[in-house]
Amino acid sequence: MKVLGIETSCDETAAAIVEDDGEGPGRVLSNVVLSQLDDHRPYGGVVPEIAARAHLQHLDRLVRQALDEAGLGLSDLDGIAATAGPGLIGGVMVGVMTAKAMAAVTGLPFMAVNHLEGHALTARLTHGVTFPFLLLLVSGGHCQLLAVEGVGRYRRLGTTIDDAVGEAFDKSAKIMGLGYPGGPLMEKAAAGAADPGRFDLPVPMKGRPDCDFSFSGLKTAVRRHVENLGGTLTDADRADLAASFHQAVGDSLIDRCTKALKYFKEAFPDGKTLVVAGGVAANQVLRARLMDLCRRHRFDFVAPPLGLCTDNGAMIAWAGLERLRLGLTDGLDFAPRPRWPLDPGAKAAPFAGVKA
Ligand code: KG4
Ligand code: ZN
Repeated sequence: MKVLGIETSCDETAAAIVEDDGEGPGRVLSNVVLSQLDDHRPYGGVVPEIAARAHLQHLDRLVRQALDEAGLGLSDLDGIAATAGPGLIGGVMVGVMTAKAMAAVTGLPFMAVNHLEGHALTARLTHGVTFPFLLLLVSGGHCQLLAVEGVGRYRRLGTTIDDAVGEAFDKSAKIMGLGYPGGPLMEKAAAGAADPGRFDLPVPMKGRPDCDFSFSGLKTAVRRHVENLGGTLTDADRADLAASFHQAVGDSLIDRCTKALKYFKEAFPDGKTLVVAGGVAANQVLRARLMDLCRRHRFDFVAPPLGLCTDNGAMIAWAGLERLRLGLTDGLDFAPRPRWPLDPGAKAAPFAGVKA
Protein backbone atom coordinates (compact mmCIF):
# COMPACT_ATOMS: atom_id res chain seq x y z
CA MET A 1 0.00 0.00 0.00
CA LYS A 2 1.12 3.55 -0.74
CA VAL A 3 -0.32 6.58 1.02
CA LEU A 4 0.25 10.33 0.57
CA GLY A 5 0.38 12.32 3.82
CA ILE A 6 -0.05 16.07 4.25
CA GLU A 7 1.03 18.02 7.36
CA THR A 8 0.06 21.68 7.87
CA SER A 9 -0.86 21.95 11.56
CA CYS A 10 1.91 24.31 12.66
CA ASP A 11 4.86 25.94 10.90
CA GLU A 12 6.03 23.17 8.58
CA THR A 13 4.35 22.57 5.23
CA ALA A 14 5.01 18.92 4.44
CA ALA A 15 4.01 16.15 2.03
CA ALA A 16 5.31 12.59 1.87
CA ILE A 17 4.57 9.15 0.49
CA VAL A 18 5.12 5.98 2.48
CA GLU A 19 4.68 2.33 1.60
CA ASP A 20 4.23 -0.79 3.73
CA ASP A 21 5.32 -4.37 3.26
CA GLY A 22 2.60 -5.94 5.34
CA GLU A 23 4.23 -6.55 8.72
CA GLY A 24 7.25 -4.69 10.09
CA PRO A 25 8.63 -1.24 9.31
CA GLY A 26 7.51 0.75 6.28
CA ARG A 27 9.42 2.66 3.62
CA VAL A 28 9.55 6.41 3.08
CA LEU A 29 9.37 6.94 -0.69
CA SER A 30 9.53 10.74 -0.47
CA ASN A 31 9.44 13.26 2.35
CA VAL A 32 9.33 16.96 1.50
CA VAL A 33 9.32 19.52 4.33
CA LEU A 34 9.25 23.28 3.90
CA SER A 35 10.00 25.08 7.16
CA GLN A 36 8.41 28.50 7.66
CA LEU A 37 10.99 29.48 10.29
CA ASP A 38 12.16 32.55 8.39
CA ASP A 39 8.57 33.84 8.07
CA HIS A 40 7.97 33.63 11.83
CA ARG A 41 11.42 34.46 13.25
CA PRO A 42 10.88 38.26 13.35
CA TYR A 43 7.92 37.65 15.71
CA GLY A 44 9.74 35.19 18.01
CA GLY A 45 7.05 32.53 17.55
CA VAL A 46 4.51 31.10 15.12
CA VAL A 47 1.92 33.61 13.82
CA PRO A 48 -1.18 31.54 12.88
CA GLU A 49 -2.36 33.75 10.00
CA ILE A 50 1.09 33.87 8.40
CA ALA A 51 1.34 30.08 8.79
CA ALA A 52 -2.02 29.43 7.11
CA ARG A 53 -1.21 31.69 4.16
CA ALA A 54 2.19 30.10 3.67
CA HIS A 55 0.65 26.59 3.70
CA LEU A 56 -1.83 27.73 1.06
CA GLN A 57 0.93 29.22 -1.07
CA HIS A 58 3.25 26.20 -1.07
CA LEU A 59 1.25 23.01 -0.48
CA ASP A 60 0.27 22.23 -4.11
CA ARG A 61 3.89 22.44 -5.23
CA LEU A 62 5.12 20.26 -2.34
CA VAL A 63 2.53 17.55 -3.08
CA ARG A 64 3.69 17.54 -6.71
CA GLN A 65 7.30 17.31 -5.55
CA ALA A 66 6.51 14.40 -3.18
CA LEU A 67 4.88 12.49 -6.06
CA ASP A 68 7.77 13.27 -8.43
CA GLU A 69 10.47 12.25 -5.95
CA ALA A 70 8.66 8.96 -5.32
CA GLY A 71 8.30 8.49 -9.10
CA LEU A 72 4.54 8.03 -8.71
CA GLY A 73 1.32 9.44 -10.12
CA LEU A 74 -1.95 9.82 -8.24
CA SER A 75 -3.22 6.56 -9.71
CA ASP A 76 -0.41 4.66 -7.92
CA LEU A 77 -1.71 5.71 -4.50
CA ASP A 78 -4.07 3.74 -2.24
CA GLY A 79 -5.14 6.63 -0.04
CA ILE A 80 -4.66 10.25 0.97
CA ALA A 81 -4.13 11.37 4.58
CA ALA A 82 -3.91 14.80 6.16
CA THR A 83 -3.46 16.13 9.67
CA ALA A 84 -6.99 17.07 10.75
CA GLY A 85 -6.00 18.34 14.24
CA PRO A 86 -4.94 19.22 16.84
CA GLY A 87 -3.20 22.39 15.71
CA LEU A 88 -3.66 25.87 14.30
CA ILE A 89 -7.03 25.67 12.61
CA GLY A 90 -6.23 27.82 9.56
CA GLY A 91 -3.33 25.60 8.56
CA VAL A 92 -5.18 22.38 9.37
CA MET A 93 -8.01 23.47 7.08
CA VAL A 94 -5.62 24.10 4.19
CA GLY A 95 -4.20 20.55 4.47
CA VAL A 96 -7.56 18.86 4.99
CA MET A 97 -9.25 20.70 2.08
CA THR A 98 -6.38 19.83 -0.24
CA ALA A 99 -6.50 16.14 0.74
CA LYS A 100 -10.29 16.02 0.45
CA ALA A 101 -10.19 17.65 -2.99
CA MET A 102 -7.63 15.08 -4.18
CA ALA A 103 -9.68 12.25 -2.69
CA ALA A 104 -12.82 13.59 -4.39
CA VAL A 105 -11.29 13.72 -7.87
CA THR A 106 -9.38 10.42 -7.64
CA GLY A 107 -11.98 8.44 -5.69
CA LEU A 108 -9.23 7.40 -3.25
CA PRO A 109 -10.04 6.96 0.46
CA PHE A 110 -9.38 9.93 2.76
CA MET A 111 -7.91 9.52 6.26
CA ALA A 112 -8.22 12.36 8.81
CA VAL A 113 -5.14 11.86 10.98
CA ASN A 114 -4.60 13.07 14.53
CA HIS A 115 -1.21 14.83 14.46
CA LEU A 116 -0.30 13.21 17.78
CA GLU A 117 -1.08 9.76 16.41
CA GLY A 118 1.34 10.60 13.59
CA HIS A 119 4.11 11.19 16.13
CA ALA A 120 3.02 8.14 18.14
CA LEU A 121 3.13 5.63 15.27
CA THR A 122 6.38 6.87 13.66
CA ALA A 123 8.35 4.24 15.58
CA ARG A 124 6.31 1.57 13.78
CA LEU A 125 7.23 3.10 10.41
CA THR A 126 10.94 3.28 11.27
CA HIS A 127 11.45 0.29 13.59
CA GLY A 128 8.32 -1.87 13.31
CA VAL A 129 7.69 -1.52 17.06
CA THR A 130 4.84 -3.79 18.17
CA PHE A 131 1.90 -2.91 20.46
CA PRO A 132 1.70 -2.27 23.34
CA PHE A 133 4.45 0.28 23.96
CA LEU A 134 5.06 3.17 26.31
CA LEU A 135 5.26 6.54 24.56
CA LEU A 136 6.86 9.76 25.75
CA LEU A 137 5.47 12.44 23.44
CA VAL A 138 7.47 15.64 23.77
CA SER A 139 6.85 18.51 21.36
CA GLY A 140 6.21 22.24 21.24
CA GLY A 141 2.55 21.83 22.11
CA HIS A 142 2.43 18.54 24.02
CA CYS A 143 4.12 16.64 26.81
CA GLN A 144 2.47 13.33 27.59
CA LEU A 145 3.12 9.76 28.64
CA LEU A 146 0.80 7.26 26.94
CA ALA A 147 0.34 3.52 26.83
CA VAL A 148 -0.20 2.78 23.14
CA GLU A 149 -2.36 -0.34 22.86
CA GLY A 150 -3.15 -0.14 19.15
CA VAL A 151 -4.10 2.23 16.33
CA GLY A 152 -6.56 4.69 17.88
CA ARG A 153 -6.16 3.07 21.32
CA TYR A 154 -4.29 5.21 23.83
CA ARG A 155 -4.29 5.38 27.60
CA ARG A 156 -2.87 8.64 28.90
CA LEU A 157 -0.73 8.11 31.99
CA GLY A 158 0.43 11.69 32.41
CA THR A 159 0.34 15.12 30.80
CA THR A 160 1.65 18.60 31.48
CA ILE A 161 -0.35 20.74 33.86
CA ASP A 162 1.03 23.94 32.27
CA ASP A 163 3.72 24.36 29.58
CA ALA A 164 4.86 21.67 27.17
CA VAL A 165 8.55 20.79 27.30
CA GLY A 166 9.30 22.22 23.84
CA GLU A 167 7.54 25.39 24.92
CA ALA A 168 9.86 25.55 27.97
CA PHE A 169 12.86 25.22 25.64
CA ASP A 170 11.51 27.95 23.35
CA LYS A 171 10.54 30.38 26.12
CA SER A 172 13.76 29.88 28.11
CA ALA A 173 15.84 30.40 24.98
CA LYS A 174 14.00 33.65 24.35
CA ILE A 175 14.62 34.82 27.92
CA MET A 176 18.32 33.97 27.50
CA GLY A 177 18.52 35.87 24.22
CA LEU A 178 19.27 32.75 22.18
CA GLY A 179 16.58 33.27 19.53
CA TYR A 180 13.96 31.04 17.95
CA PRO A 181 13.25 28.13 17.80
CA GLY A 182 14.73 27.50 21.20
CA GLY A 183 15.18 23.73 21.32
CA PRO A 184 18.05 23.27 18.86
CA LEU A 185 19.69 26.56 19.95
CA MET A 186 19.61 25.54 23.62
CA GLU A 187 21.12 22.18 22.74
CA LYS A 188 23.92 23.83 20.76
CA ALA A 189 24.62 26.33 23.55
CA ALA A 190 24.71 23.60 26.22
CA ALA A 191 27.34 21.65 24.28
CA GLY A 192 29.88 24.42 25.02
CA ALA A 193 29.28 24.56 28.80
CA ALA A 194 32.32 24.74 31.08
CA ASP A 195 30.30 24.33 34.30
CA PRO A 196 26.96 22.54 33.68
CA GLY A 197 26.17 22.48 37.42
CA ARG A 198 26.66 26.23 37.91
CA PHE A 199 22.98 27.20 38.03
CA ASP A 200 20.57 25.72 40.52
CA LEU A 201 17.26 24.94 38.80
CA PRO A 202 14.22 23.11 40.25
CA VAL A 203 13.35 19.61 39.01
CA PRO A 204 9.62 19.93 38.31
CA MET A 205 7.25 17.32 39.81
CA LYS A 206 10.10 15.16 41.15
CA GLY A 207 8.85 12.45 43.50
CA ARG A 208 5.16 13.00 42.78
CA PRO A 209 3.20 9.73 42.66
CA ASP A 210 1.49 10.53 39.32
CA CYS A 211 3.10 10.79 35.87
CA ASP A 212 2.27 14.46 35.17
CA PHE A 213 4.68 17.19 34.07
CA SER A 214 5.08 20.89 34.76
CA PHE A 215 7.57 23.21 33.08
CA SER A 216 6.43 26.78 33.65
CA GLY A 217 8.30 27.04 37.00
CA LEU A 218 11.53 26.05 35.29
CA LYS A 219 11.15 28.87 32.79
CA THR A 220 10.54 31.30 35.68
CA ALA A 221 13.69 30.04 37.43
CA VAL A 222 15.67 30.65 34.22
CA ARG A 223 14.31 34.20 34.16
CA ARG A 224 15.43 34.75 37.77
CA HIS A 225 18.98 33.63 36.98
CA VAL A 226 19.08 35.94 33.97
CA GLU A 227 17.91 38.84 36.17
CA ASN A 228 20.53 37.96 38.81
CA LEU A 229 23.18 38.23 36.12
CA GLY A 230 22.02 41.78 35.42
CA GLY A 231 20.01 40.86 32.32
CA THR A 232 23.00 40.51 29.99
CA LEU A 233 24.59 37.11 29.52
CA THR A 234 27.98 36.21 28.11
CA ASP A 235 28.22 33.20 25.81
CA ALA A 236 29.74 31.30 28.73
CA ASP A 237 26.75 32.19 30.95
CA ARG A 238 24.36 31.05 28.23
CA ALA A 239 26.22 27.78 27.77
CA ASP A 240 26.21 26.98 31.50
CA LEU A 241 22.56 27.98 31.95
CA ALA A 242 21.50 25.93 28.91
CA ALA A 243 23.37 22.92 30.30
CA SER A 244 21.79 23.35 33.75
CA PHE A 245 18.41 23.60 32.01
CA HIS A 246 19.04 20.31 30.17
CA GLN A 247 19.99 18.70 33.48
CA ALA A 248 16.75 19.80 35.17
CA VAL A 249 14.54 18.83 32.20
CA GLY A 250 16.33 15.48 31.95
CA ASP A 251 15.94 14.79 35.70
CA SER A 252 12.23 15.59 35.49
CA LEU A 253 11.62 13.45 32.40
CA ILE A 254 13.51 10.52 33.94
CA ASP A 255 11.60 10.78 37.23
CA ARG A 256 8.24 10.92 35.39
CA CYS A 257 9.16 8.08 33.00
CA THR A 258 10.30 5.90 35.91
CA LYS A 259 6.82 6.24 37.43
CA ALA A 260 5.19 5.50 34.07
CA LEU A 261 7.39 2.43 33.46
CA LYS A 262 6.31 0.98 36.79
CA TYR A 263 2.66 1.43 35.93
CA PHE A 264 3.10 0.24 32.35
CA LYS A 265 4.93 -2.96 33.35
CA GLU A 266 2.10 -3.88 35.73
CA ALA A 267 -0.68 -3.10 33.26
CA PHE A 268 1.05 -4.50 30.15
CA PRO A 269 3.41 -7.34 31.10
CA ASP A 270 4.05 -8.03 27.37
CA GLY A 271 5.24 -4.49 26.67
CA LYS A 272 8.98 -4.01 26.42
CA THR A 273 9.59 -0.77 24.54
CA LEU A 274 9.78 2.92 25.42
CA VAL A 275 9.35 5.17 22.40
CA VAL A 276 10.16 8.87 22.41
CA ALA A 277 8.53 11.07 19.76
CA GLY A 278 7.89 14.72 18.89
CA GLY A 279 10.26 17.60 18.17
CA VAL A 280 12.06 17.50 21.54
CA ALA A 281 12.95 13.85 20.84
CA ALA A 282 15.56 15.29 18.46
CA ASN A 283 17.59 16.34 21.53
CA GLN A 284 20.66 14.11 21.90
CA VAL A 285 21.23 14.86 25.59
CA LEU A 286 17.69 13.82 26.50
CA ARG A 287 17.87 10.77 24.22
CA ALA A 288 21.01 9.59 26.03
CA ARG A 289 19.30 9.95 29.42
CA LEU A 290 16.26 7.96 28.23
CA MET A 291 18.46 5.29 26.69
CA ASP A 292 20.24 4.87 30.01
CA LEU A 293 16.88 4.61 31.83
CA CYS A 294 15.76 1.85 29.46
CA ARG A 295 19.02 -0.04 29.90
CA ARG A 296 18.45 -0.08 33.66
CA HIS A 297 14.86 -1.30 33.21
CA ARG A 298 15.73 -3.84 30.49
CA PHE A 299 13.43 -2.03 28.10
CA ASP A 300 14.08 -1.43 24.41
CA PHE A 301 14.50 2.25 23.59
CA VAL A 302 13.34 3.54 20.22
CA ALA A 303 13.77 7.09 18.93
CA PRO A 304 12.99 7.93 15.30
CA PRO A 305 15.70 9.59 13.19
CA LEU A 306 15.90 13.35 13.79
CA GLY A 307 14.04 14.37 10.61
CA LEU A 308 11.07 12.19 11.59
CA CYS A 309 10.92 13.61 15.16
CA THR A 310 10.04 17.17 14.14
CA ASP A 311 6.85 17.66 12.13
CA ASN A 312 6.83 15.96 8.72
CA GLY A 313 4.45 14.40 6.20
CA ALA A 314 5.79 10.83 6.46
CA MET A 315 4.39 10.42 9.98
CA ILE A 316 0.95 11.51 8.75
CA ALA A 317 1.15 9.26 5.68
CA TRP A 318 2.11 6.31 7.90
CA ALA A 319 -0.66 6.90 10.47
CA GLY A 320 -3.05 7.18 7.50
CA LEU A 321 -1.72 3.92 6.07
CA GLU A 322 -2.18 2.13 9.38
CA ARG A 323 -5.74 3.41 9.57
CA LEU A 324 -6.46 2.45 5.96
CA ARG A 325 -5.23 -1.12 6.62
CA LEU A 326 -7.86 -1.36 9.38
CA GLY A 327 -10.60 0.18 7.23
CA LEU A 328 -10.61 3.34 9.36
CA THR A 329 -11.26 5.84 6.57
CA ASP A 330 -13.15 9.12 6.91
CA GLY A 331 -15.93 10.86 5.00
CA LEU A 332 -15.30 14.03 3.03
CA ASP A 333 -17.54 15.78 5.56
CA PHE A 334 -14.98 15.24 8.36
CA ALA A 335 -14.63 18.54 10.26
CA PRO A 336 -11.08 19.51 11.34
CA ARG A 337 -10.56 19.40 15.10
CA PRO A 338 -8.34 22.13 16.63
CA ARG A 339 -8.42 20.10 19.87
CA TRP A 340 -8.28 16.34 19.66
CA PRO A 341 -6.99 14.30 22.62
CA LEU A 342 -5.58 10.83 21.90
CA ASP A 343 -7.26 9.48 25.01
CA PRO A 344 -10.74 11.05 25.15
CA GLY A 345 -11.38 9.32 28.49
CA ALA A 346 -8.52 11.14 30.26
CA LYS A 347 -9.37 14.13 32.43
CA ALA A 348 -8.35 17.51 31.00
CA ALA A 349 -5.35 18.89 32.88
CA PRO A 350 -6.33 22.03 34.80
CA PHE A 351 -4.25 24.68 32.99
CA ALA A 352 -3.12 22.86 29.91
CA GLY A 353 -5.44 24.22 27.21
CA VAL A 354 -4.71 22.55 23.88
CA LYS A 355 -1.71 20.83 25.39
CA ALA A 356 -3.89 18.23 27.14
O1 KG4 B 1 6.85 18.14 17.02
P1 KG4 B 1 7.26 19.51 16.66
O2 KG4 B 1 8.07 19.71 15.39
O3 KG4 B 1 6.02 20.46 16.54
C1 KG4 B 1 4.94 20.33 17.43
O4 KG4 B 1 4.04 19.48 17.16
O5 KG4 B 1 4.97 21.06 18.47
O6 KG4 B 1 8.07 20.11 17.90
C2 KG4 B 1 8.61 21.41 17.89
C3 KG4 B 1 9.29 21.64 19.24
C4 KG4 B 1 9.77 23.07 19.44
O7 KG4 B 1 9.39 23.51 20.73
C5 KG4 B 1 11.29 22.95 19.32
O8 KG4 B 1 12.00 23.92 20.08
C6 KG4 B 1 11.52 21.55 19.87
O9 KG4 B 1 10.45 20.79 19.35
N1 KG4 B 1 12.80 20.99 19.43
C7 KG4 B 1 13.80 20.68 20.29
C8 KG4 B 1 14.88 20.25 19.49
N2 KG4 B 1 14.50 20.30 18.16
C9 KG4 B 1 13.21 20.76 18.17
N3 KG4 B 1 13.87 20.74 21.63
C10 KG4 B 1 15.02 20.36 22.20
N4 KG4 B 1 16.12 19.96 21.51
C11 KG4 B 1 16.10 19.89 20.15
N5 KG4 B 1 17.17 19.48 19.48
ZN1 ZN C 1 4.34 17.77 16.15
